[in-house]
Formats: sequence, structure tokens, C-alpha cells
Amino acid sequence: MYKEITLEYNSDLDDMDFSVVRLLNKSFAEHEMRLKYEKNKIIILLREIDIKKLKDLPSFSPYADKKILQDVINAIEKIKSYGIKGNKRNYVDYNKERKVKDRGEKEISREQYYYAKCHNFSSKNNICPEEHINKIIVGDSEFILKNIPENSIDLIVTSPPYNFGLEYESNEDAHYWETYFDKLFKILEECIRVLKYGGRIFINIQPLFSDYIPTHHIISNFFLSKKMIWKGEILWEKNNYNCKYTAWGSWKSPSNPYLKYTWEFIEIFCKGDLKKTGNNKDIDISSDEFKKWVVAKWSIAPERNMKDYGHPAMFPEELVERILKLFSYKNDIVLDPFNGVGTTTVVAKRLKRKYIGIDISPDYCNVAQKRIDDLDANKGLFVDEP
Ligand SMILES: C[S@@+](CC[C@H](N)C(=O)[O-])C[C@H]1O[C@@H](n2cnc3c(N)ncnc32)[C@H](O)[C@@H]1O
Repeated sequence: MYKEITLEYNSDLDDMDFSVVRLLNKSFAEHEMRLKYEKNKIIILLREIDIKKLKDLPSFSPYADKKILQDVINAIEKIKSYGIKGNKRNYVDYNKERKVKDRGEKEISREQYYYAKCHNFSSKNNICPEEHINKIIVGDSEFILKNIPENSIDLIVTSPPYNFGLEYESNEDAHYWETYFDKLFKILEECIRVLKYGGRIFINIQPLFSDYIPTHHIISNFFLSKKMIWKGEILWEKNNYNCKYTAWGSWKSPSNPYLKYTWEFIEIFCKGDLKKTGNNKDIDISSDEFKKWVVAKWSIAPERNMKDYGHPAMFPEELVERILKLFSYKNDIVLDPFNGVGTTTVVAKRLKRKYIGIDISPDYCNVAQKRIDDLDANKGLFVDEP
């Protein structure tokens, strides 16, 4: 880990400038400091250096009068907070040891979610315009989401499709999967953009075990590469033992036993911060629910009424209910970019969250809207306060 400083110039660097960079890199070891250059930029990566040695450098070098050398020295000298170890100034981790000693917090020394620290997310959250709120929207999420401002959604709860209506006959074509993930990642990238700082995304993934495609790892890697914080993983135990033992592998032989999975995953990622601010009066989880649900293995039967709703891959309402009560406040805005027949949106409304549901199928959106309307029609049955 380095502290990074960038010096930017109006014109491109010249050969003499590059020589200064090389001199500095030769004078300091890799664990002390590294300099990189791009067209008109010098990037200083600092860890620990002997500042006297740096300041003395011009007197021993042929580049003493080069402005760039003085600029680097000045930029490093200007840094106010640093630690001292031996005769070296420390620019990273210098107060880490002290904190651990002071507070005995081991996780600080391990550096929590180090992979997500150097993100570029703005911490300024925006208001989502009323026109999008409490709507079921027909369309392709890749494009619909572009209308929603960045940093304006509290929670995303979703379960992606296993195809995107691609015209391939079978998924044996390797290109199928490239195209699939390409499309999915475009939509997930938009999801990250619209999430508030401190917002969370829950993505239900059934790894394609029979095809040996670890979808949950591939999707998680995508989020990590986008500097999202991995909050955890819920194992949704569906107790689904239907799969036949020899359907995909060998029987009673080590040649190729097929592993059976009775569960799916809910991967959870946070944008910028693990903490989500909210009003205490908007918390609606009971102590018993909290104690039970923080144990991350949830045994919930699959949705039994998929035929009635006309959708082959719904998740059950209880799954969404647990996610919303455990991870969101009343009045939060909950989005599902693959809303299907609207399980996320109907539960969000029932639990007094705001909702936005998008699905490419007008038929599914009609069912989703009907579920919302039925909730309104049966208000007395669901509303627990005047
Ligand atoms: C696994 S289903 C979600 C079901 C939903 N969780 C429920 O309980 O009803 C995935 C949904 O994604 C929708 N979909 C596929 N491609 C889409 C796209 N580009 N934009 C929006 N929705 C899409 C499909 O129509 C399908 O309903």
C-alpha cells in the first residue's frame, strides 16, 4: 500500500523529466517510494523515506536545476501527517499500530475491506425524483436505470435472469456466456451507480452447477473489481432434494460424482460504507427476528405458487421480507431491476418502503402491478397502524 500523489503539468514531460524520474526510482527502494509517469503526469507512490536523503539529492545529481525534481521534493515535504520510524518518515499505516495498541482492535491491523478503500464513489447522496418512486416500469434495465440519478437508491434486491433473450440455441457456445455476463455487468454497473453511498445490493444467485459455471464467484468478482465492499453471503437453504444422483455424474464411482446443492446464495455488497444511516423510529425488526436472521443460513421453502403468478423463477416473499427488515429502514427506496412478477416490490410496499420495479416483460409487470393493487384493495389486512 502506498500513499499516492499526482503532479500534473500543462505540457507533456520531456526526456530530461523522465531521467529525473529514473534517478529517483534508482535512489529509493521499491518499499520506500516509486514514481510513475504518464504523458503530463508524475505519480508518486510513497511508503517510507529518509526525507534528508531526498532533500540532499539535488546536490549530488546532474538534474539539480530541474523543476520536476524540486516539485517532487516539495510535494512530499508538504505532507503534514506522517509517522517516524528510525530515520524515515512513514506515509502509510503509521497510526495503525498505535490504534491497535490503544484499542486492541485486531481488525484495524488487518485493514478491513482493503480492496475497496481506493474507490471513487461520491459520499453525497441525491434525492430520487418522485416520478420514479412507487413505479413498476416495463423496459430493459440497462437503459431505464440511466434515468435514475446516481446515489439515490437505498437498497437493491434482485435475482438476475439466466438468459437475456439471446438468440443462441444452447449455452454450449462459450460466446453465450461472454455475451451473458457482458449484458448482466452493464446492468449491475448501473445498479452500483444509482445506489446511495452506504447503500446495499442483494443478489440472489443460483450457481450453474450442472454447467460448472460458478456464477456467484464471477458476479462477486465483478463487484469487488468495482470497489464494492463484500458484506457477506446468505445461504438460502431451499431443502430442494429433487435432483437425481446420477443425472449429471457418475453413480457409486469416483470417476465423476456430481455434487448436489439444495441451496442458493444471496451475495451482499455495500457501496462505500458498511453502515447505513436511518431514523431509529423507522426500524421495524423485532429482537427475535434479529437474533434469528443474523445467522446467515436461512431455511425458506421455494415459492409454491409460481404457476398462479405465471413466472418460472420467483423468489419467496419471506426471503425479501427478511432482507428488508434486517437491512433497511421504513421509507427507504428499494429497487429491483429484474422485478419479474414483483416479489420485491410487493413486499417493499407491504413493509412501508418505497419501491421501483423494472422488468423487460410487460406481462410480468402487469402481474407485479396487480399484486400491488391487491395490497391496496386489502389494505386492512396488511396495515398495522392507522
Ligand atoms: C429470475 S427472474 C426474477 C423474478 C423475481 N425475483 C420474482 O420473484 O418475480 C429475472 C427477470 O429478469 C427479467 N429480465 C431479463 N432481462 C431483463 C432486462 N434486460 N431488463 C429488465 N428485466 C429483465 C426477466 O423478464 C425475468 O422476469
